[in-house]
Amino acid sequence: MSSVHTLHRIDATERGGPRDLRRTGLHPDHWYPLARARDLKPGKTLGVTFGGEPIVLVRPLEGQGDVFALEDRCAHRQVPLHLGVVKGDRLLCSYHCWAYNRSGKCINVPYLDEKQTLPNGVRSYAAREQYGFIFVFTGNQALAETTPFPDLPTYSNPAYKHRLLDRTINCHYSFMHENLMDMNHQFLHRSLMGSIRPTLLDVREGDDWLEADYTFSRAAGKQPLGERFMIGRGKHDVAKDGHDLMTIRTGYPYQTLKFWTAGSGTDQPALDLWNAYMPTDVDQRANQTYGLIMIRKPGIPGMIHLLWPFIHWFTEGIFGQDREIVEAEQRAYDQQGADRNQEIFPAIQRLKDLLTRRGVPLPPRQG
Ligand code: FES
Ligand SMILES: [Fe+2]
Repeated sequence: MSSVHTLHRIDATERGGPRDLRRTGLHPDHWYPLARARDLKPGKTLGVTFGGEPIVLVRPLEGQGDVFALEDRCAHRQVPLHLGVVKGDRLLCSYHCWAYNRSGKCINVPYLDEKQTLPNGVRSYAAREQYGFIFVFTGNQALAETTPFPDLPTYSNPAYKHRLLDRTINCHYSFMHENLMDMNHQFLHRSLMGSIRPTLLDVREGDDWLEADYTFSRAAGKQPLGERFMIGRGKHDVAKDGHDLMTIRTGYPYQTLKFWTAGSGTDQPALDLWNAYMPTDVDQRANQTYGLIMIRKPGIPGMIHLLWPFIHWFTEGIFGQDREIVEAEQRAYDQQGADRNQEIFPAIQRLKDLLTRRGVPLPPRQG
């Protein structure tokens, strides 16, 4: 493990001049969850967007093939294809009934003259259904096969119960990464968490990832109910090394948080969170957050079901507070037209570098 202080910091000049992170687009050459699987019914379509690009997800009826994804814009007159009709594994545009196959090829125009050839079709995207989401490879399709797909072994581990996160948040995705990585914001959650003091133990980084370890101590007073249920920590728990451990990792473009409780006697984290923040609009001032909260079941059988409503309430409360504050950050950025942040925490300085150098510059604002 390298120490926080000795790690090499990549500064703006090394990456070829300063670039505003909030004007940096999320790199499209990755697998992104763009919908909850259950929101796309058999024989139906669903219109989504990634950085302003309209994409239609199509689920053929049972036995007629897997989910597929096309540009959500008819090649004829650009109307959204998600208004169309699914027939077999074809999608018919609702206007003049041009038909597209799963590769986006236009395979029929009902009124085509015999002497005419079929027009060009629409763009298609690689799609995969997993972990309760529909993932789409949004970038260069030639890279889809070789680009790593998220690996979430905890998802199918029967020792865990999971909950899917789904919300639209009006901020640039970078504020989301910074919010979770910077545990120094526990003050924001004082009403739910009481007074908690985080200690940064270590920061490690590579070309496309950065992770930080923290431990926590309670400043004073009683442990609030929320924390007690959420992480199952008892007053007398003592781990091998005597404290809880939280590791937060941005492994571009995703983010994870794992939490091991002191004295739990297992290597399995009590909490395993996986998140992805997809920009929805062309300016990337809003993001669709999808995630999975995976919680290790307590030893007592069935206990997790009793705790579940409470865990739901507690996590919703925390996310609600985070949402309010990151949206306020975006509004401040928009009012000022620039990132005037005085970031003094090294882990976040380096996270900003990482997100900037892995992303893509955005085109000038659309007004
Ligand atoms: S607009 Fe789609 S078929 Fe005409
Ligand atoms: Fe938070």
